[in-house]
Amino acid sequence: MTRSIRPSALRVGAVALAVLLGAATPAAAQPDPETIVNAFEAVLGPIRTHRPSHPKGLCAAGHFTATPDGTRLSVAPVFSGQRNTALIRFGVAGANPNASDSARGTRGLSIRFESPSGDLFEMANISAPVFGAMHPQAFVDGLLSRANDPATGRPNPERAAAYATYLAANPSVGNQGRYIAANAPPVSFATTPYWGVNTFLFRGQDGQVRPARWVFEPRAGVMRLTAEQMQSMGANFLADELRRRVAAGPVEFDMVLQFPGQGDDLLNPTIAWPDDRPRTVVGRLAVTAVEAGPGGPCDPISFMILDQAPGIEMSDDPILQARAAAYAVSLSRRVGGGNSPDPPPFSGTWELTAEVSSRTTSNGGGFGGGVLPRSYFFLAFTITPSLSSAAISASLNPRATSTSRPC
Ligand code: HEM
Repeated sequence: MTRSIRPSALRVGAVALAVLLGAATPAAAQPDPETIVNAFEAVLGPIRTHRPSHPKGLCAAGHFTATPDGTRLSVAPVFSGQRNTALIRFGVAGANPNASDSARGTRGLSIRFESPSGDLFEMANISAPVFGAMHPQAFVDGLLSRANDPATGRPNPERAAAYATYLAANPSVGNQGRYIAANAPPVSFATTPYWGVNTFLFRGQDGQVRPARWVFEPRAGVMRLTAEQMQSMGANFLADELRRRVAAGPVEFDMVLQFPGQGDDLLNPTIAWPDDRPRTVVGRLAVTAVEAGPGGPCDPISFMILDQAPGIEMSDDPILQARAAAYAVSLSRRVGGGNSPDPPPFSGTWELTAEVSSRTTSNGGGFGGGVLPRSYFFLAFTITPSLSSAAISASLNPRATSTSRPC
């Protein structure tokens, strides 16, 4: 069933969802999703139209098919071995919609898989094997340490000092920065690996549950910019490069699962597991079409790190547990016109459609104990007309030019 709902209904729906998800998380000390997104806004200004993380990006489409090993290792619909359609977004990390493609930082690969039976699975991956926070509260503290204090117009020195002390005591938080410093940006969205970073639990056909992390390995090989290219390539080459490449043939990635060894930390995404851990190729993603310009069907959705319990379930990694609800709140603010009393920055006609029952999965909910009917989750996240890129550019928040790299 498809029905239209108003933006305000989206906001209520997404926030209610976020509250449910937040309530389902196991760690009592987690900041709630509104607090997390408020911390983004404290640094960047109100979220109105674009993502507070990876706002620069482009939308693509393709398909994903599991290998026989993938089908063996997960009972999730996405791994059935049938072809899933894939809505794909490539992004450039940071909070700046005009970020330079030549600058160091991570690139993103976000995917919404849809199985032939209508099951959805979503993920957002980055081109680094680790994240820059091991707990949501530390993530919030990191953001707030950079936020201007309204009283002084500058970051609060005590907050900044407290966060610096935390960083000194937790050196693994710097692993992502060290990886980025050691690895130049890719020459193409098609020539870098993208890691899921967090640990998920895969239930195989044999009933066994195996913790694993994934990486999408580029079939084109890994190719990075030289120091000279980082100076010469300019700020905006990635989108057209991908369009040209896909016009010549599909761009493919192998999805590879990595399994932990003795002593590997399953719940800390700032530490990568050693390279010699067992790996299995579980599927292939093919990118077959790229939007001609900015915008498109990726803009009004969020890639909300779904699980497909019991085939692919979230681990208790607190960062992972915090993500989906924060993405829901962020989505509700940027498509619902922000969280401020000001009017929304775009006023074109747009209609939100939601497919309610047809998305109900055969395998139930999953967040924090399976109490959430999956159909509820898919209530609100498609807007049919593309937001016009002109409207988006016209309404860009001038404060959102920070080069911070929250994700
Ligand atoms: C506490 C941890 C995290 C928080 C609070 C957080 C928050 C967010 C938010 C609010 C968005 C924008 C969502 C939207 O408006 O649609 C976002 C986007 C994104 N995040 Fe995170 N994130 C976290 C961890 C991570 C991690 C570990 C990764 C890497 C695997 C990651 C990768 C991404 C990517 C690739 C996007 C862009 C998604 C897109 O293309 O729509 N994030 N994040």
